Amino acid sequence: MGVVMPDTRIADTQAILTETKAKQSSGSLAIVGTGIQALGHLTREAEGHIRHADVVFHCIRDPLMLADLHALNPNVIDLTTLYGADKRRSLTYVQMAEVMVAEVRSGRRVTGVFYGHPGFYVAPARLALTTAKAEGYDTCLLPGVSSLDYLFADLRVDPSQSGYQAMEATDFLLRNRPLVTSGHVVLMQVGPVGDLFRPVTDNLERRAILFERLIEIYGENHPCVDYVGATRPGQKPVLRRLKLGAYRDPANLKRLSKASTLYIPPKDSLDNDMAMAERLGISAMVGKPLPVPAAESAPITLVPSTPPVMSNAYFKAMQQIALDPDAAQSFRADPVRYVTSFGALNADEQRWLAAFAKPATPVKVVAAVEEVQDQNVSTEDVQDQNVSTEDVQDQNVSTEDVQDQNVSTEDVQDQNVSTEDVQDQNVSTEDVQDQNVSTEDVQDQNVSVEDVQDQNVSVEDVQDQNVSAE
Ligand SMILES: C[S@@+](CC[C@H](N)C(=O)[O-])C[C@H]1O[C@@H](n2cnc3c(N)ncnc32)[C@H](O)[C@@H]1O
Repeated sequence: MGVVMPDTRIADTQAILTETKAKQSSGSLAIVGTGIQALGHLTREAEGHIRHADVVFHCIRDPLMLADLHALNPNVIDLTTLYGADKRRSLTYVQMAEVMVAEVRSGRRVTGVFYGHPGFYVAPARLALTTAKAEGYDTCLLPGVSSLDYLFADLRVDPSQSGYQAMEATDFLLRNRPLVTSGHVVLMQVGPVGDLFRPVTDNLERRAILFERLIEIYGENHPCVDYVGATRPGQKPVLRRLKLGAYRDPANLKRLSKASTLYIPPKDSLDNDMAMAERLGISAMVGKPLPVPAAESAPITLVPSTPPVMSNAYFKAMQQIALDPDAAQSFRADPVRYVTSFGALNADEQRWLAAFAKPATPVKVVAAVEEVQDQNVSTEDVQDQNVSTEDVQDQNVSTEDVQDQNVSTEDVQDQNVSTEDVQDQNVSTEDVQDQNVSTEDVQDQNVSVEDVQDQNVSVEDVQDQNVSAE
């Protein structure tokens, strides 16, 4: 699987890792995701955290994902057994969080595994992270492939075109949240809309209320896609395109599943604000669609990619840091000692490492961190208004995490070392213009949503294989 196994570590590195482990007296919590598709979506770093955990908790039902998990670590505990008939999901979540944190308190390195992106609509993971962090334990939340990422790929929706909103279906109805109909809209948890209990039932009346609200906003002829990404390798996604009005038919409401995500393409397009274009100095290009140049309109010279000049030591060290949490900790404790234990570095690598290891004192960063904290204060206000939906409440808990992350000024400082890299990324003004030119693509995308209809392989079974943790 591309993982550097411990027996390939050279002696010095091994000694450092042993030292690091010996110093780890207190527990830690890593929350990782499997992605949506079993086997294909698990990231290498998530795999590393599963492999190296003392105990792994999971909330996974897909047999392939489970097989993968058990192959990586034999010490696995199933959290799904905590769900119960007629048991409120919020109680189950508190219990899931509690059993994970209890292991952390006993000094163990715990990894919690959830499907998709583990920070995206995963209340128990948030709760466990918040609690463990508040009690002073090391925590981390690793990104994974979410259903939203998958949807962008399968429906070929580019959120850079007209923007997007993603929200939870019950929350949308309860707070009467305004939809931006000029952008892409994604509604999560449409199958179990209004359902706070487990097991999730097929409540067609509640689903009908959701669609009536959408019809009020978009009209009954506007298209939408019931999307379920494939959970098995080789399987096709479910892309069921219907007009919103078709959901007045209970048979269509019934076909929605707990894994359904509803995609609604833009309805309106917005005119350019020419005064703003003027201020930005791009009025000559805005509002007059430029023809997309043909590829042959300029000579093309293809140059084979040149491998970067990189020492074997540097590559091996970085690879191991990415895949092994012990290695990452050893590196953070003493970057120079850890990396050079792999062998000699070239001059560029030595400079990078020296800059990385140097304590940073960027005044600007402190200001920026404070700004973010101020924003968080206002997020709390918003949370106070959030009275109901359990998921929303659970998500509210997680604002504390954000604040905690802000405290980690060191991390931000570390990022500052790579300001040059960021600057390189900033050369994207042209890209922005390209995006402006391609506003027409939005329409193309709308058209392609219809195409999606043709691909509608109604693999309804796929829906039922999808996992829970709502
Ligand atoms: C509790 S949320 C969990 C989201 C998950 N953590 C993620 O990263 O996508 C459950 C919702 O995710 C969406 N979802 C889950 N599995 C899906 C799939 N295979 N395809 C599309 N959407 C899915 C549905 O909207 C479902 O109601």
